[in-house]
Amino acid sequence: MTGIKDTLAARFSCRQYLPKPVPRETIESILKTAQMTPSWCNTQPWQIILLSGDEVGRLGQKLHEHAASGAHAKPDFEFPARYEGIYRDRRKVCGVQLYQSLGIGKEERAKAAQQALENFRFFGAPHVLLITTPEELGVYGAVDCGLYISNLILAACEHGVDSIAQAALASYPDVLRAHFNTPTERKFLCGIAFGYGDHDHPINNYRTERADLDKVVDWRG
Ligand SMILES: Cc1cc2nc3c(=O)[nH]c(=O)nc-3n(C[C@H](O)[C@H](O)[C@H](O)COP(=O)(O)O)c2cc1C
Repeated sequence: MTGIKDTLAARFSCRQYLPKPVPRETIESILKTAQMTPSWCNTQPWQIILLSGDEVGRLGQKLHEHAASGAHAKPDFEFPARYEGIYRDRRKVCGVQLYQSLGIGKEERAKAAQQALENFRFFGAPHVLLITTPEELGVYGAVDCGLYISNLILAACEHGVDSIAQAALASYPDVLRAHFNTPTERKFLCGIAFGYGDHDHPINNYRTERADLDKVVDWRG
């Protein structure tokens, strides 16, 4: 059994998968672990829709077509309008790493856009789940779901299952709501694609950086 530090060090956002499904018992074990997530007043606001098999392709085709048609994102929770300062810098570095791994140059916007659209095909993952939170719990419901997302992707990693959190999958909640008949009071927050990653693919072979503690902690006393 590995510790939290090893699991965090081993996990990365996987953007290319093998077409090999994860056994149902493994998925259940990951979900049971994530269920141990704490939440404010123990409300456990997360609910998920988990797709496997043909359901993945059906949704992927619908979302990919919608996104490729140039539809504007209308997420239930607004995406950041802009990134400034260190956030802009950090975002840029991880974008450069991603596109460099694929040999896509700075000026090759069409190629970069094509790659970004792969979000909507879940990067070829055999499973994808969508997380909703109830409108009434507001931002703290979303915070609790964030903890759940983290625990789920770490639990997956401990089972040798690769994953990626995808806010992109919350871009078109109307499409999702119609597809799944989801009540309007449940807000789409994020998706997670998961499966067994293609570890030989260059897109899975770079690692992102983290800021040093002095950029994060204001020690007092
Ligand atoms: C809440 C959340 C949403 C994310 N959404 C996307 C996404 O839509 N598409 C994508 O390619 N990566 C997405 N990511 C992955 C981040 O880009 C990635 O976690 C970050 O660059 C750090 O890299 P690492 O996960 O490999 O350590 C998301 C991550 C989080 C935590």
